[in-house]
Amino acid sequence: MLDRFGLDGRVAIVTGASSGLGASVARALAAAGARVAVVARRKDRLARLAEEIDGFPVACDLVDLDGLGAAVESVAGELGHSEILVNAAGSMFTEERAEAEPLEAMRRTMELNLLAPFRLAQGVFPHMLKAGRGSIVNISSISGRVGIPGIPQASYAASKAALSGLTAELAVQWARHSIRVNTVAPGFFRSEITAPLYDNERSREYLRRNTPLPVQGSAEDVVGAVLWLAGDAGSYVTGQTIVVDGGWTAR
Ligand SMILES: NC(=O)c1ccc[n+]([C@@H]2O[C@H](COP(=O)([O-])OP(=O)(O)OC[C@H]3O[C@@H](n4cnc5c(N)ncnc54)[C@H](OP(=O)(O)O)[C@@H]3O)[C@@H](O)[C@H]2O)c1
Repeated sequence: MLDRFGLDGRVAIVTGASSGLGASVARALAAAGARVAVVARRKDRLARLAEEIDGFPVACDLVDLDGLGAAVESVAGELGHSEILVNAAGSMFTEERAEAEPLEAMRRTMELNLLAPFRLAQGVFPHMLKAGRGSIVNISSISGRVGIPGIPQASYAASKAALSGLTAELAVQWARHSIRVNTVAPGFFRSEITAPLYDNERSREYLRRNTPLPVQGSAEDVVGAVLWLAGDAGSYVTGQTIVVDGGWTAR
């Protein structure tokens, strides 16, 4: 059974790989045997990670949607046809409450969190066709499922919920090609974007109180679900949003 978690020789693209969950996913896929293209803007971090995991760095700004096709093709030229795409890059652009949130924040959030994953999925599609199989894993958030009291995030929540809808639709359209599409929706874990929450005693206590499991989440707690969905261990799973949140949404 453990062999079904192996990814020997498969080519993977992981966005958001310069930090946090994306970097952890890139390391895990490489440890499972994949050749991994790591994508983000910070070149120095990508170069270090690529050296560590014998991967291929692709520095680009994901909101430059017209450039994403070329990024995917550069991976194909260097490593071969992509069989795995993990869309882990994502961010929030405002802390305003909804009534004051500028439309521009909604647009930027949608570009990074929804349009870039969609464009990359379109880009890898012909490569997955040629490979005869594929697995796309989008990273969403529990914010796409439930409101988070006290931490305003209307556009972020909308973008993450939209990823789940896109996931189900792509899964159904592409199942006939043996391309699976799933989403992992993490709860809170410590990373660059959430460091201010964990560094503040009041908000840390808020996160602790609302997470039934008595652990502070880390990127490593989320990686297992991505690894499962990326390879043959998840071969009968498609169109799903898998929540990994320490029980936050079970309350
Ligand atoms: N941390 C949490 O509690 C939590 C909870 C639920 C969901 N998530 C989701 O998990 C994913 C990973 O987040 P994280 O917590 O690991 O955050 P993180 O450490 O801040 O990572 C975000 C990554 O996205 C990349 N990125 C941001 N804007 C980009 C752009 N325009 N072009 C290319 N890359 C860009 C960043 O790289 P560069 O800056 O180098 O470009 C970075 O590698 C995100 O989708 C996030 O929404 C996080």
